[in-house]
Amino acid sequence: METSERLIQKVEQLPQVNIGHFPTPLEACPRLSEVLGGPRIFMKREDCSGLAFGGNKVRQLTFTLGDAVAQGADTIVHGAASQSNHCRQASAACGKLGLKCYLRLARDHKSILQGNLLLDNLADADVEIVDAEFGAELDVVKYELAEKLKTQGLKPYVVASPRSTALAAVAFTWCIAEIAQQQQELGIDANWIYTCSVGGTQAGLILGTKTLGLRMQPYGIAPIRWENKEDRLRTAANSAAELLDLETRVTDTDIQNTDDYIGQAYGYLTPECIDALKLVVKTEGIFLDPVYTAKAMACLIDHIRQGKLGPDDTVIFLHTGGTPAIFAYQEELVASLQV
Ligand SMILES: Cc1ncc(COP(=O)(O)O)c(C=O)c1O
Repeated sequence: METSERLIQKVEQLPQVNIGHFPTPLEACPRLSEVLGGPRIFMKREDCSGLAFGGNKVRQLTFTLGDAVAQGADTIVHGAASQSNHCRQASAACGKLGLKCYLRLARDHKSILQGNLLLDNLADADVEIVDAEFGAELDVVKYELAEKLKTQGLKPYVVASPRSTALAAVAFTWCIAEIAQQQQELGIDANWIYTCSVGGTQAGLILGTKTLGLRMQPYGIAPIRWENKEDRLRTAANSAAELLDLETRVTDTDIQNTDDYIGQAYGYLTPECIDALKLVVKTEGIFLDPVYTAKAMACLIDHIRQGKLGPDDTVIFLHTGGTPAIFAYQEELVASLQV
C-alpha cells in the first residue's frame, strides 16, 4: 500500500508547470447538509485552483503542459465544445507560459461570444469554430492544423486523448493524496466522493483511492454519453498507474458512473440542475456551473432523497469548476427566475 507522501513524491517526478494554486481547500458544507437532512457534506474546491477562474482542468494542464514544454513545444493546439472550460484554462495557461494557443472548437448551440468562448478570445487564443463533431472528428482537425503549423517552423503539441486523459488521471491521483492529508487534518474519513466526470478526473480518483486503500468510493456523474465509458475510465486510470510507476490496476468493478443526470444531451440544462445550482449558492455561497457540477449535485441530492445516503455517511463533493459557463446560459437561467 502506498502512503500519500510517497504518492506525492511519485507525482512530483513527472514534468509539470506551476500554473495553479494547490492544495485547493476541502471545506465543510454544514448548511447544505442540514437543508438536505442527509450526510455530512464536504466540498473539494477545484473551482479555486487559481488560474483563470479555476476548475479541474488547471490541475490537469499542470501535467499536459508540463509534457508539452518537456517536449520542446512552443505552441498548443486544443479543441472541444465551444464553451469548453478546458480550452479557456489552456488559453490562459499559454499566456502565463509564453506559448501560442490555437483552439478549434466544435460549432454547437452555445457558440456565442459569452462565457468561456468570450474568455478564450480575450486571452488572445487563435480561435476558430469548426463544423466537426467534438471527439474523433475534431481531433483530425487539430492534428491537420498541427501539421500546417510545423511547416511554418512552429513546434506544436496537440492536447488530445488518450495522452491528455491519462495525464488528467495522474492529476486526480495527486488530488486524492491531497484529500487524504486534508481528511487527517479535519478528522474525517469520507465513504463517498461524488464528481462530474466520465474521464480523467474520475479515473484519477479511482486510481488514487485504490492505491491509498481509502474507504472512500468514487462516484462519477457523466455530463455526456460516451460509448464504452468503462473502457475509457479503466484505460486512463491504468495508463496513469504506469506513468506513476504504481502497481495498482483498476478493473471494471472499481467503476461507478451514471448517465442518469445528463438530461436531453450534453450542454442542455435540466430543471433539477438549475435547482441544485440555486440551492448550493443559497446555503453555502458557492456557485456551481450549469453543465457539469450542478448536474452532479442534482444526483447527490437525488441519492439523499432516495435514502441511498443518510446521516451516517460522509460525502466529499469535488467541485470541478466551470462557473464562467453560467453567462453563456443567461437565457435559460433568467427563465428560471421569478422576476
Ligand atoms: C467543469 C467541468 N467539470 C467536469 C468535467 C469533466 O471532466 P472529465 O474530463 O474528467 O470527464 C469538465 C471537463 O470537460 C469540466 O470542464
